[in-house]
Amino acid sequence: MHKILIVDDDQTHRQMIDTILRKDGYDIYQADDGDQAIDNVQKQFFDIILMDIRMKRMDGISALKAIKKLSPSIPVIIMTAFSSVNTAVDALKSGAYDYLTKPVDSDELSILIKKVLHLNQLEKENVYLKERLGKTFHFKNIIGNSAAIQPLFEAMTLSSPTDATILISGESGTGKELIANAIHENSPRKDMPLIKLNCAALPESLLESELFGHLKGAFTGAATNKKGRFHLAHKGTIFLDEIADMPLSTQSKILRVIQEQEFEPLGGTQTIKVDVRIIAATNRNLKEAVQTGRFREDLYFRLNVIHLKVPPLKERSEDIPLLTEFFLKKFTQKNKRFIKGLTPKGMDILMRYDWPGNIRELQNVIERSVIMSRGDLIEPDVFPEPLKKLYQSSNENRMALNVGKSLKDMEKEMILLTLKKTNGNRTHTADILGISRRTLQLKLKEYGVH
Ligand SMILES: Nc1ncnc2c1ncn2[C@@H]1O[C@H](COP(=O)(O)OP(=O)(O)O)[C@@H](O)[C@H]1O
Ligand SMILES: [Mg+2]
Repeated sequence: MHKILIVDDDQTHRQMIDTILRKDGYDIYQADDGDQAIDNVQKQFFDIILMDIRMKRMDGISALKAIKKLSPSIPVIIMTAFSSVNTAVDALKSGAYDYLTKPVDSDELSILIKKVLHLNQLEKENVYLKERLGKTFHFKNIIGNSAAIQPLFEAMTLSSPTDATILISGESGTGKELIANAIHENSPRKDMPLIKLNCAALPESLLESELFGHLKGAFTGAATNKKGRFHLAHKGTIFLDEIADMPLSTQSKILRVIQEQEFEPLGGTQTIKVDVRIIAATNRNLKEAVQTGRFREDLYFRLNVIHLKVPPLKERSEDIPLLTEFFLKKFTQKNKRFIKGLTPKGMDILMRYDWPGNIRELQNVIERSVIMSRGDLIEPDVFPEPLKKLYQSSNENRMALNVGKSLKDMEKEMILLTLKKTNGNRTHTADILGISRRTLQLKLKEYGVH
């Protein structure tokens, strides 16, 4: 129900308004001066305040200013005697929403209140929409605007505030870890730790000791008690990277943590209870790993509740210019270089390369280029080998169509270039050019090529 506060030192008038609005179904509060009004606003949220402008103790304008300071978005409607419309204008200047002349007409009052509430609702929806829209792109430092990345941002927005277990899959270098960070940062657990562990980096026994901890003497070399990562992540989030590489026996222990939120440290019998959110990542196809028996099916289902698939960079090449700009800024600042951007050729190559190392590779290419460039524009000749090759082959395969050449010259150039590309294979060359082998022979003879 909407709450309205009526502020007026004239008790009869106050009561009259109270009666009108109560009939319209609002929850009405009364105050008989500005001080009392402020006191009320300090204690609860009102949807509208109706306030007399001339009151004995604190006048309406001062009260209005004080209320706006406390709660800038409350619409305040001023009530004023017809003779003091000038003061009403002052009130509007001080932030009043509108004014009514006294004695207040009941229809006019009802309509104005409805209008204000309606507008207020629209405004709220607008703010909410903006927040949501803003949020979609508000994963700090995760660059991307392509259609291919939108479903991912949407899913991140929806799942971040929850406790749901999340599986992130995607090729190496696509940003899985960055996404895990962002999810934690946008969750209610953000002030608690985010603990990471790469499951592929450790042999089985060490992996379990890292995950669950151990007591002194649990195995040779366990010289002290050590808390596990799950223990350290209590109330926070654990990020299990390369989960497909986890041995089957460890997988069953992880399953138990997900289901029961408990485990025992190595060499211990005491069960440790934790409250941990799990985010797992993999660059392999987990489903396939299930089919070949390398991954537990039940764990797969537990992890797969929310599955964020990160597209490879080649499927979102529209994002390359944006990412390039972002990395350029980062590395020119870091290396104190002044570089404006890339030459069109340079950009063209970035767009055409297939980026097997994804965003990590792009980032490395830009950093290297920033360091290696002599001018203020990055030229393709500072690119590493695989990209440079793309540049060279694109040059070799192209001939310039400069005005000023005769058709005959162009024909010759075209024939010789094609012959070079086919390593001198005449049948193949004739095929490509769409002429007979005999015609090709004649032309070559004419050029003096035997
Ligand atoms: N969308 C992105 N915007 C900016 N930087 C990114 C983005 N995705 C990945 N990166 C950067 O690329 C590198 C690799 O990302 P990372 O999260 O480690 O990938 P993965 O875990 O999938 O191998 C990191 O330095 C990361 O900051
Ligand atoms: Mg990674």
